[in-house]
Amino acid sequence: MDQASGLNRNGKTSRVKVIAVASGKGGVGKTNTVINLATSLAGFGDRVMVLDADLGLGNLDVMLGLAPEYNLKHLFSGEKELSEILVEGPRKIRIIPAASGIQEVTRSGTREQQVLMEQLSAYEDELDFLLIDAAAGISDMVTGFVRAADAALVVATPEPTSMTDAYALMKVLCNRYGEKKFYLLLNQVADENEARQIYGQLSRVGEKFLDITLIFLGYIPKDASIPRAVRRQQAVVEMEPQAPAAQAYVELARRLRRLPLNDKSGGLHYFWQRLTGAG
Ligand SMILES: Nc1ncnc2c1ncn2[C@@H]1O[C@H](COP(=O)(O)OP(=O)(O)O)[C@@H](O)[C@H]1O
Ligand SMILES: [Mg+2]
Repeated sequence: MDQASGLNRNGKTSRVKVIAVASGKGGVGKTNTVINLATSLAGFGDRVMVLDADLGLGNLDVMLGLAPEYNLKHLFSGEKELSEILVEGPRKIRIIPAASGIQEVTRSGTREQQVLMEQLSAYEDELDFLLIDAAAGISDMVTGFVRAADAALVVATPEPTSMTDAYALMKVLCNRYGEKKFYLLLNQVADENEARQIYGQLSRVGEKFLDITLIFLGYIPKDASIPRAVRRQQAVVEMEPQAPAAQAYVELARRLRRLPLNDKSGGLHYFWQRLTGAG
């Protein structure tokens, strides 16, 4: 892999796009977004890995009816390799299950981070996307992943608390770390009008007070198919592909695939450098 150009041995661009899915407030739909986005991307033929980085409350595996025997805890303790803790989700997406009760793994230079990233880099040529389900809020762990990713996808709902918390998250990332660009996904909205209106409000205050650019990536309607899929522990895009929320996720995946995401240098190697503050 020629890291500078992003070309692999065959001269093809092999560049893992790392997307961190974050939110100010919990319960806004991050995990559902990661699951359905990953499954939709796989439906387009992309090779996708998902990292459940919500180390306190990770439940991505549960939402897919998976019961992984091992998780990040076993990787960090050295008991298992990444290949041994990976589980397969719908359409062969590869999932790294979260460990509960581990805090602050992404502090600069921690051994845990190093273990994870070293083993992830072995997948450099095998992946098109790495989606990270980050925890809610502004812990070091969340900000670390968001800063290191190629794109920060902020999920918010029309609830005022979700909007203010999304703004607070972007403010911290901007003021502390100079992050200037965010992608917004509005979830649980009534229609596109409502989504555009909320986007307008958030992007106006973001531009005015933080000088950030907020890009509208799309919206997912409030749809009873989502809680139904959660209860049946399936991805809605597989369970009810005709449901409005499912179609919106496929459209979101289509848009995400078209994003250039060239602002930061590419690949897992650079992700790792940025995560540790070396790059
Ligand atoms: N578009 C939607 N329409 C209806 N309900 C939704 C939608 N998105 C999420 N939900 C509900 O919100 C709950 C929380 O979603 P989840 O993805 O677990 O949020 P987070 O990961 O941000 O905590 C889900 O269990 C689901 O019932
Ligand atoms: Mg979640």
